[in-house]
Amino acid sequence: MASSPPRIPHHVAIVMDGNGRWATRRFLPRVAGHKQGVESLRRCVKACANRGVGVLTVFAFSSENWNRPVEEVSGLMELMVGALAREVPRLNRDGVRLHFVGERAGLSPKIVAALVGAEETTAHNTRLVLNICFNYGGRWDIAQAAAKLAEQGEPLTEANLDRAMALAHVPDPDLFIRTGGEQRLSNFLLWQSAYAELFFSDKLWPEFDEAALDEAIAAFQSRERRFGQTSAQVTSATA
Ligand code: IPE
Ligand code: IPE
Ligand code: MG
Repeated sequence: MASSPPRIPHHVAIVMDGNGRWATRRFLPRVAGHKQGVESLRRCVKACANRGVGVLTVFAFSSENWNRPVEEVSGLMELMVGALAREVPRLNRDGVRLHFVGERAGLSPKIVAALVGAEETTAHNTRLVLNICFNYGGRWDIAQAAAKLAEQGEPLTEANLDRAMALAHVPDPDLFIRTGGEQRLSNFLLWQSAYAELFFSDKLWPEFDEAALDEAIAAFQSRERRFGQTSAQVTSATA
């Protein structure tokens, strides 16, 4: 009997960490690392689309990243506006639909306009959903979902919270990757990653290439996802 082809994770989530160290090792300003990080993201989006990944969710700026030096924060904001102006036409041609996930209050009107414009331009695309988490925190998401339900007078059930969450338009992540060597979540997708397979790479984000992505996907394919069941139950269900 022919064996089924190894499954590709439908939803991949990535903490793109290590840009600052990449730059510092080259005696460059940290913002140069973030610029290189944009290149790495472009490559990763293409590689994911080619492999049949349906949803890619990346962490670009956390609720806590406001605590960085002001020059770095403003550099990141400018980079986002510039990168969108450059990249959206190409992403659009490639069938990528962009969503920005995170708190919009606190962002400048210029940034918000760039995010909204990118979402509108790509709204009809269906090849790959790219969620960019920007001014995002997992705790913010849970709290805003609960606040929304409370305002509507809805009970705080799991199903209702799920629907009120900022990533309600996509299923939960299957594979959660963090680059840069740290093994922590840093407030990313706390609710949605309940059953994600975790993969930590020592590669800094600007160095995370197609081979590194394939390594993460291969690790995912070697895992047995049990969702609380026993191994015997899972094996008999897929036999
Ligand atoms: C991740 O890279 C990008 C952002 C947080 C915006 P870092 O900037 O955290 O890079 P390191 O961890 O300092 O190397
Ligand atoms: C997480 O990386 C946030 C992003 C990648 C956007 P950080 O570099 O901010 O995480 P910590 O502070 O080391 O936990
Ligand atoms: Mg970091």
